[in-house]
Amino acid sequence: MAAGFDFFLERLKDRVVLSDLISPKVKLVKRGGHYKGLCPFHTEKTPSFVVQNSKGQYHCFGCGEHGSAIDWVMNTQGMGFMDAVESLARASGLEVPHDTEQERGMRLKKASFLDILEKVCLFFTQKLHEKEGKEALSYLHTRGVSPGMISQFRLGFAPSGNALQTYLKAQGIDAQTQLELGVIGHDSEKGHTYDYFRGRLMFPIFNRQGQVVAFGGRALDDQVMPKYLNSPETRIFHKGEMLYGSHFAAKAMKQGQNLLIVEGYMDVIALHQVGLTGAVAPLGTAIGEMQLEEVWRMTPRPILCLDGDLAGQKAAFRALERAMPLMEPDKLLSFLLLESGEDPDSFIKKQGKNQFESRMEKALSVFEYIWQTLKNSHTTTSPEGLALFSKQFKELLKTIGSPDLRTAYFEEFYKKYAENFKSASYKPLGKLLDQNKPKMDARKKVLDILLRCVIERPAVLTLIEGDFLGMATFEEIESLHKAVLDYYFLGSPLEKEPLKHYLKDNGIILKMYTSSDTIGFKGILDSLSGDIEGFSRQWTALYHRWSDFEEIRNFKLGNIRKDDVYVQAIRERIEGLQTELQNQQAHTTNKKEEMK
Ligand code: UTP
Ligand code: MN
Repeated sequence: MAAGFDFFLERLKDRVVLSDLISPKVKLVKRGGHYKGLCPFHTEKTPSFVVQNSKGQYHCFGCGEHGSAIDWVMNTQGMGFMDAVESLARASGLEVPHDTEQERGMRLKKASFLDILEKVCLFFTQKLHEKEGKEALSYLHTRGVSPGMISQFRLGFAPSGNALQTYLKAQGIDAQTQLELGVIGHDSEKGHTYDYFRGRLMFPIFNRQGQVVAFGGRALDDQVMPKYLNSPETRIFHKGEMLYGSHFAAKAMKQGQNLLIVEGYMDVIALHQVGLTGAVAPLGTAIGEMQLEEVWRMTPRPILCLDGDLAGQKAAFRALERAMPLMEPDKLLSFLLLESGEDPDSFIKKQGKNQFESRMEKALSVFEYIWQTLKNSHTTTSPEGLALFSKQFKELLKTIGSPDLRTAYFEEFYKKYAENFKSASYKPLGKLLDQNKPKMDARKKVLDILLRCVIERPAVLTLIEGDFLGMATFEEIESLHKAVLDYYFLGSPLEKEPLKHYLKDNGIILKMYTSSDTIGFKGILDSLSGDIEGFSRQWTALYHRWSDFEEIRNFKLGNIRKDDVYVQAIRERIEGLQTELQNQQAHTTNKKEEMK
């Protein structure tokens, strides 16, 4: 579609308030920055249908149904795309634009560009099977590329000299157009044009519809530089938006294949040859944001598969860094790192498809990948190394864009950190609390007050981050706790007023406490006053005291999971507390003795 129309669609999506559009059909409740309700696309008892006005998207975590305002109208009113656009435009007081002369001109030009590139592609494929292409064809045979793949990927050969130019001229295509398409170049010094690809094995690059939009040409001689020459950017070829093989991948997803992001043309072809048809590759650059968004439209969890050498490891980490801000619970990545020196093509040739598939099954999740990578690059046996490991890990997690995912990963981090580096294990106690009792008892109230103390002095969060994240919650304060965490991990200013505004904007009402409470908020807040370090130490001490007693209480009540490690950890904690108590008593007795 013409660019003007794309702009219009953006404008239309901005104009429509999605929750208003959906609410006549689904009862929606505001929850933080989004709306929740029972999914209209499947039967459910608890709401997993989420509407985000800011993104203009709805999504059901139960059945996976998702889309924009236009999709909503199409799905619920059985309309086609254009009818849905017209109907939304009418309701929003906008008029659907119709093509201008210029736009029509552009579209015609684009169509003729595609036709010409198709001709060029045919020219190259023919040449591969003629006398001139003999060397290229035998090169493909030595590389083990099957005749089926040669024709499916429409591999070709660009002869030396100016054969293509001569051919296109004879077809009535002017030099200007050839230049615009990047199939010929112009030497301004010598003042003549030349064939852009000469003596190269040709890989046509296809758009999502399978139309040829550009080429990559591989030198047959390893002495010739560059190894791969790609078409320059043109009006219909934007490198950063393309993925080699993407026209096959969408279909492969429907057949239950995995989406594999690999590095090279040859890797894509080698994987296809053994039936792994979900393989795609960026075009000689690191994977970019647009390409990530494109693969996520096809699958929630593509597998990034790179060479295990230093360059490959670096590329994987860069891809991770790029993906973090864009990631969502349903937009993730997995990591498959091969041994140094191997790419998927060489791996498959040596070890076969089954071995490769078993590697795919073992691909690391984002969290595991970060854990392993950072753990390998730090000496976690020294306290300084461990501190640096932890610092960098958290810095990285903070760049995750999705609050849900960020919080989940932080929780996972603290849990795994405790399992690996601490003797007594980290314990989110929330679940252990007695939830049948509706009344807010004293135990719960302590937590409530601790939470409010943090809201009074949010700057303390940087010092108590870990404890605060793992802090036990219960139903009445859970959303407040989550919202404070979201606020913090979003990197917002750690001041009381902005935080309170944020809470209010997210529909969270802070109930006020008076000093007449049995456990007084003001009393505790006052006792925690002083500089921020002191405040944090006392907050932590109070929270730990609370959780120790809570743990003992739960242990006595039998409210905990009774696996050996956990029970052992609790025993040690209780013993520790008892020793502490004895020491204190001994201390006081000693003092008394001295006094005598
Ligand atoms: P590789 O050198 O790994 O290519 O570069 P490959 O596909 O494995 O090729 P073979 O096996 O050596 O024949 C990976 C990708 O980087 C881009 C190409 O897209 C290539 O497929 N590239 C590489 C270039 O654009 N230019 C170059 O000079 C080299
Ligand atoms: Mn290779």
